[in-house]
Amino acid sequence: MNDFTFYSPTKIVFGRDAIDRTGEELAALGFTRALIVYGGGSVLRTGTLDRVKASLDAHGIAHAELGGVRPNPEITSVRKGIELARAERVDVVLPVGGGSAMDAAKAIALGACYDGDAWDFFAKRATPAQRIPVVAVPTIPASGSEASNSAVISNDAEHLKSGLNTDLNRPVLAIMDPALTFTLPPYQTAAGVTDMIAHIMERFFSGEPAAPVTDNIACGIIRAVMDAAPRVLENPEDYDARANIMWAGTLAHNGLAGCGTNVPGGRDGDWSCHGLEHELSALDTSITHGAGLAVVFPAWMRYVWREHPERFLDFAKGVFDIEAIDDTEEAVRDAVTATIDELQEFFVSLGMPRTLGELGVKEADIDQLLVGLKINKGEVFGSFKQLTIEDARAIYRSAL
Ligand code: NZQ
Ligand code: ZN
Repeated sequence: MNDFTFYSPTKIVFGRDAIDRTGEELAALGFTRALIVYGGGSVLRTGTLDRVKASLDAHGIAHAELGGVRPNPEITSVRKGIELARAERVDVVLPVGGGSAMDAAKAIALGACYDGDAWDFFAKRATPAQRIPVVAVPTIPASGSEASNSAVISNDAEHLKSGLNTDLNRPVLAIMDPALTFTLPPYQTAAGVTDMIAHIMERFFSGEPAAPVTDNIACGIIRAVMDAAPRVLENPEDYDARANIMWAGTLAHNGLAGCGTNVPGGRDGDWSCHGLEHELSALDTSITHGAGLAVVFPAWMRYVWREHPERFLDFAKGVFDIEAIDDTEEAVRDAVTATIDELQEFFVSLGMPRTLGELGVKEADIDQLLVGLKINKGEVFGSFKQLTIEDARAIYRSAL
């Protein structure tokens, strides 16, 4: 097991009607002025925003609002939020929504404490030193942003989508009410499930040796999610299944699933598939992150598995109970192929795409994908197998 640092300072308040405790929880932390950040309007339609505001009002917490943050959030809404945060002198940023609202809120929280333009952080021209605390109220289990150290922001003018990892990005508190996710459309439910499984797999396939405690956590979470996902598609108001998926989404990305399989001196996973996917949603901002991952991850797996077949066999056994019938090359290949096939069929069974074509991405787009990839990831990236830009081209092509 590799040496690691596990830091997950986010307090979690989880359960039925947790949303109505937002004001009480914020007041307990001493906050008095909140900037609420939300997306395209689902929280208005579902009444979630009204419940949050009523709860803040009941505890004397003043609030300003920034709505209209789109999926794959853009830097212009971050800039708007920074102005608002300063004008209103807020002491907490309170996203109510998905990864997009949460990531915009994190960027606002950093940018409000910085004299330059917030994009500097995402272009890696500046390192954040301070932030306004963030309290997250997730309404979709997917990104794990409610406890992660990441924020991912798009810049349409520069055709870029870039992530920023810093512990300053970790929310101080997450208020998680699984019933808020009853209203999720099936496609977003499925994309969220895919994303959280991808967060675990990025860590599992770091290229580092097995760490049985973490491997069991990783495979156990994936099995639980695979069990619950069809149940919520069948019955969107299955509280127990929704709750298990929601908790899984947090544990998939708060660092727990990478303890001891992290790359020494590097990241807590490989993260190539996230790099490959972020270029898809930068190319076409209507592409949902999880849907892009459903295409990219199996394609990456088929390309790289020979680097560490033993890790694929661990995964095969841990998640699908698949074993090679002996240790010949053919038997290992058959077991690994069956595993990747099963995983891909699972994503497809949820309504996720199998090919880039289904996402509207064509061969002629690949050059542009590679330009962004080079800016974000460099000439060589990945730890399970070091990939070049030409390897990335081959992976994209294999997924057409
Ligand atoms: O915008 P609204 O109207 O709220 O609708 C959203 C949006 O259309 C809808 N939605 C959310 N909760 C709902 C709901 N609809 C009905 N009922 C509800 N309860 O779902 C759609 C997707 O929302 P979004 O916030 O974009 O989804 P998600 O949570 O998947 O976030 C995706 C973003 O997070 C980034 C992705 O790259 C992408 O930009 N990620 C962030 C990470 C992080 N910060 O740690 C890690 C991830 O790997 C990911 O990269
Ligand atoms: Zn993700």
